[in-house]
Amino acid sequence: MGDTGPAIDALQQRGEAYPPPAGMATYAVVGDPAVYDRAAADPVGWWEDQARRLQWDTPWHTALDESDAPFYRWFTGGTLNVAANCLDRHLAERGDRIAFHWEGEPGDRLHITYRELHERVCRFANALRTLGVGRGGRVAIYMGMIPELPVAMLACARLGAAHTVVFGGFSSEALRDRMEDFGATVLVTQDHSFRAGKHVHLKDNADVALAGAPGVRHCVVARRSGDPVEWTEGRDAWFHDLEQASSPDCPAEPMDAEQMLFALYTSGTTGKPKGIVHTSGGYLTGASATHRMVFDLRDDDVYWCAADIGWVTGHSYIVYGPLANGATSVMYEGAPAFPSHSRMWEIAERYRVSILYTAPTAIRSYMKWGDSYPKVHDLSAIRVLGSVGEPINPEAWEWYRDLIGSGTAPVVDTWWQTETGSMMISPLPAISTLKPGSASRPLPGISARVVGEDGLDVPRGEGGYLVIDRPWPSMLRTLLGDDDRYVATYWSRFPGLYLAGDGCRVDEDGDYWLLGRIDDVMNVSGHRLSTIEVESALVDHHAVAEAAVVGRADELTGQAIAAFVTLRDGVVGDEALIAELRNHVATLIGPIAKPASIVLTADLPKTRSGKIMRRLLRDVSEQRHLGDVTTLANEEVVEEIAAMATVNPHQED
Ligand code: WTA
Repeated sequence: MGDTGPAIDALQQRGEAYPPPAGMATYAVVGDPAVYDRAAADPVGWWEDQARRLQWDTPWHTALDESDAPFYRWFTGGTLNVAANCLDRHLAERGDRIAFHWEGEPGDRLHITYRELHERVCRFANALRTLGVGRGGRVAIYMGMIPELPVAMLACARLGAAHTVVFGGFSSEALRDRMEDFGATVLVTQDHSFRAGKHVHLKDNADVALAGAPGVRHCVVARRSGDPVEWTEGRDAWFHDLEQASSPDCPAEPMDAEQMLFALYTSGTTGKPKGIVHTSGGYLTGASATHRMVFDLRDDDVYWCAADIGWVTGHSYIVYGPLANGATSVMYEGAPAFPSHSRMWEIAERYRVSILYTAPTAIRSYMKWGDSYPKVHDLSAIRVLGSVGEPINPEAWEWYRDLIGSGTAPVVDTWWQTETGSMMISPLPAISTLKPGSASRPLPGISARVVGEDGLDVPRGEGGYLVIDRPWPSMLRTLLGDDDRYVATYWSRFPGLYLAGDGCRVDEDGDYWLLGRIDDVMNVSGHRLSTIEVESALVDHHAVAEAAVVGRADELTGQAIAAFVTLRDGVVGDEALIAELRNHVATLIGPIAKPASIVLTADLPKTRSGKIMRRLLRDVSEQRHLGDVTTLANEEVVEEIAAMATVNPHQED
């Protein structure tokens, strides 16, 4: 990595800095900036303090065991039950408090208290026991966003069994591979899920997957649509039948702190997904502590993480973190634009949501649909906004704060990964001065650096590799069944340092600017440019809703910048606009960043978690045969873009 400097500067210097809301620090969870130094002076002690906020059956004897690094262990000797921490310990004081305001896509609603959730989890845990699941058991979960999903996860946790949640948008092949790799003996699914007014045939997909996964002996089916599904007698059982037949009395098993809580599969650089292993004590410590600090959680907050539980964000910030903190959350089943572009804001208004956590790609969609949708809703309860999943471009950041946060709510841009289990680099809303596009700095207790090829710190202002140089409690412990790949992927490039795989630069104030995945860094005529910078510059133009940029091979310049742009509704795209966009990028960043080609497209190819598939766009740009596109949420769009890119491959000066 090298001279990303001048390019980023152009965007950065333009940007404003936003101090925290006046007076917020007085009442905040974290209101004193000295917290950073205190935690840095004794990071292990700091994490022990966070862990003590949980309820342990046996205290740990060793907070951090580094004897077998990089296989770090936290809180060894300690035992706790994750479900008891999320449910039982709240019952005495806040049993009647709402855990989830659940809203189905068709409009049905449930308000589930901690006591009700506890009872359902106990019943379902007993039901799982009758299917042979106990301590160390393995359960796969393939569901949409219905209450039975957290019930199933917590029931596993109660028994000391591990779960793997497979996102409901994945194919039957993906489900089969993950169930097999995980060694699941039970699958929990549902008849259909609702998405954008359509039925997703989860049970049908599960049937196909189960045919190739003989190790899975039972299939539990939650009823959601009520429409008929195929049934295999002896293997299949209804969720509600099992629940009703089971006792609500189910003692929580004290589990070793290092017991696997779940594995979650994520894509790596090879075709085989990696099973990221998380354990109990350290993971829950990280998820709950960061949830409380970063969102400045208060007793009267209504919190909404609009992610899907099928991804790590939903695990840590819909289920485990908020429940461990006794929070009241909103959980929404469906698509954000169903039945209208107002859906999100209607829900936020209805429950007086005070903390909203979502992804930049979603924010850019809302921007594209137009300001009129949020404007007619009362969003005045919102006081903290969060962003996660990719770098957020300053324009989206400012729109989010202005339109959703009434121009006053701090936006916490949280950087973390499936592997890190919880947030790593993020502002603390009552004490951080925010710069749109920067994730601020490592959270207390986290130590991150930016290094060059030689593993040494790069000077401030220069881009490099983001590494974490001290273990943290919610870190992944290994890749399931593949310790070697764990070491090779994360710990080999720079021994002793965790390689995040992201580019980053630290500015003169010590603020971190994430530059996208290392492989998203382009090299044009020897100048290194991050795709996000060019994307941000494009989205900065008033006509642009969303942009994706890739480096495509070019004989002359090494790589040339290929841009794919979605325009805001109502804007007409023509050659003049394309020229204007190229000049806009040149003005903001410099002529070197001018895209060689801009393709206007109605939509961008995205994974089902909303990440833009740049690899595919690179293939399209280089006119390569397209590989597997089945993980896309919108397969059709690729062919359309490919056709356009072929007709109009170059708009060079
Ligand atoms: C990216 C999601 C910039 C990053 C929690 C990381 C981000 C990958 C941010 C992990 C952010 C996530 N700013 N980039 N605030 N948050 N990323 O495993 O490239 O789905 O490595 O975890 O998303 O994605 P994952």
